[in-house]
Amino acid sequence: MSHNVKIFRYNPENGKTGKLVDYSVKINPGMSVLDLLHRVHDEQDGSLAYRYSCRGAICGTCAIRINGTARLACKTQVNDLLEEEKSITLEPLSNMGIIKDLVVDKRPFWESIKKTMPWLVRENELADERLNYETKLDKVHLDQLNRSADCIKCACCFADCPKVEETPEFIGPAVSVQVYRQMFDPRDTKLDERLTFSTAEGGVFDCDKHAACVKVCPKDCRPLRAITFIQNKSKQVVQ
Ligand code: FES
Repeated sequence: MSHNVKIFRYNPENGKTGKLVDYSVKINPGMSVLDLLHRVHDEQDGSLAYRYSCRGAICGTCAIRINGTARLACKTQVNDLLEEEKSITLEPLSNMGIIKDLVVDKRPFWESIKKTMPWLVRENELADERLNYETKLDKVHLDQLNRSADCIKCACCFADCPKVEETPEFIGPAVSVQVYRQMFDPRDTKLDERLTFSTAEGGVFDCDKHAACVKVCPKDCRPLRAITFIQNKSKQVVQ
């Protein structure tokens, strides 16, 4: 059975502003939004631009705005959308510039991630010798690290964050998760630098706690918890 699907089209080379274009697409059972995009691309318009790589909700590249919410195209089932809203509208992620059609410029997002030093830093031996060698982390640490390490940098949280929209300098939820991931690691020796970076102007204290990030994260990384953790940690250090 065919359904009408609206897809945002924009080509910077033709000098026109972007607009939603209607496509009639045959929907099969078990079809993902990414499959739908492939069908439009293969059968109706080969110039449609969109990103994907793994097709398995691991690489984060296929994130787009689906019926008004940032989601992974490869993880979102078309039939679920039709049950929810009876219509499908596909647009590029918000809070980033559009390069073409559904492809956005993620460079500001990656620049922010880079500033967090997203790697473990061990500058000296730690007072607790047990953490200096083949370190065994306790279960609490491991659970927290695993959850934050699940972030696939899809930028869904960044795109749907009202604070990022209002204040582009705000570091955003995914960056906070990355900082939290390093700060929660007892082997890391850069706590002060990470706290300074993440609590400066435009940092975690600017969060208005809309919690849109919690709703849209496809990996349940709970960015708001990371933000609260960093806020509390910084207060403890100051006291
Ligand atoms: S294609 Fe990799 S997350 Fe969707």
